[in-house]
Amino acid sequence: MTARDTRAEVGTGDVQDSGHGGPDDDYPPERLAAIGREDLDHLGARYDGVHVLHVDPPPAPGSPLEKRATRQVSMLFALAGLFAFLFVFVYVGSGWFLPDWRWEVGGDWWGLLFTPMLGISMGLSLLCVGAALVVYTKKLLPHETAMQEKHEGSNFERVTAAATLQKGWHNSGLGRRKLLLGSVGFMGGGLGLMLLAPLGGLIKNPNAGNPLGTTSWGEGVRLLREDGTPVRPGDQEPGSLATVFPAVPGGNRESDAATMLIRLRPAQVQSATARAGQEDFGYGDYVAYSKICTHAGCPVSLYEQETSRILCPCHQSQFDVTQGAKPVFGPATRALPQLPITVDEEGFFVARSDYIEAVGPTYWNRERI
Ligand code: FES
Repeated sequence: MTARDTRAEVGTGDVQDSGHGGPDDDYPPERLAAIGREDLDHLGARYDGVHVLHVDPPPAPGSPLEKRATRQVSMLFALAGLFAFLFVFVYVGSGWFLPDWRWEVGGDWWGLLFTPMLGISMGLSLLCVGAALVVYTKKLLPHETAMQEKHEGSNFERVTAAATLQKGWHNSGLGRRKLLLGSVGFMGGGLGLMLLAPLGGLIKNPNAGNPLGTTSWGEGVRLLREDGTPVRPGDQEPGSLATVFPAVPGGNRESDAATMLIRLRPAQVQSATARAGQEDFGYGDYVAYSKICTHAGCPVSLYEQETSRILCPCHQSQFDVTQGAKPVFGPATRALPQLPITVDEEGFFVARSDYIEAVGPTYWNRERI
């Protein structure tokens, strides 16, 4: 007979097995309702064929050992909650009471710290939860080694299993260890918010201000070469191409602003057909097109002047500069957007406005922003 069997039989006279029929016959609901939780657990164990092989009791309630372990676990749960709240603070605060996060090459300190801080705070929070659970299990819970044979379930089993779960809650000590319960609540609040906060990114409109549909180009913005020098109409040979950027701070680092300034040959000028409504976007024999491929965003820069085609090296899309840079080969389906240009009073090329359509690859709501 096991220790658990003994407890079940001596716990109360009401829990003796009659030896006839199944447990539901022996213990109808009203009889089960009259039995205490502890005895129900023992009784269920006996009917379940559970054999307890070894039991290490938890530290005695109120003992220095228990108090120290409770403090350790509570501290770890509290730390987990703190790091979780730090995650929420950084995530929600960015752009509100903290600097707005914006990743760019050579960006400010906040741009460098934002993502690592999210990762570190979430990682430390989860680490503390794991450590707390390990310490809690090892130092505050009774350790029992038991064996059980499996068989069909019944109402009797459901009731006794519920008693076993209640006993587990009782053994956990959470009900009477207020410090531990408080730290678990604090940790749960922080952890819940940490997991829910990123969902806010799905609610916030990422297209507010139409960032995908606008660039730094605008009326009067000069076209600069990569070395920062402006371009005059006489600077390029017919048939040549130069990559230019908007004359704004950091303009030569903006991935969506790179533009090709192409001087057409006389024969190309004669055969050129602009897109409808964009007949005056060029200036003399110059045209300017976005350098960002409309297929998947690679920089298109291989210009073959004999065929008037711009080739994208990624998937071989080709765009005809004499037909408004419309795609004539490959997977791209949209023409390269054309930048309207003119010259300023000093004779340098300037944009007349931003691109009138989004540059780069198509996205699902491109036409609706
Ligand atoms: S990115 Fe240009 S063809 Fe695919």
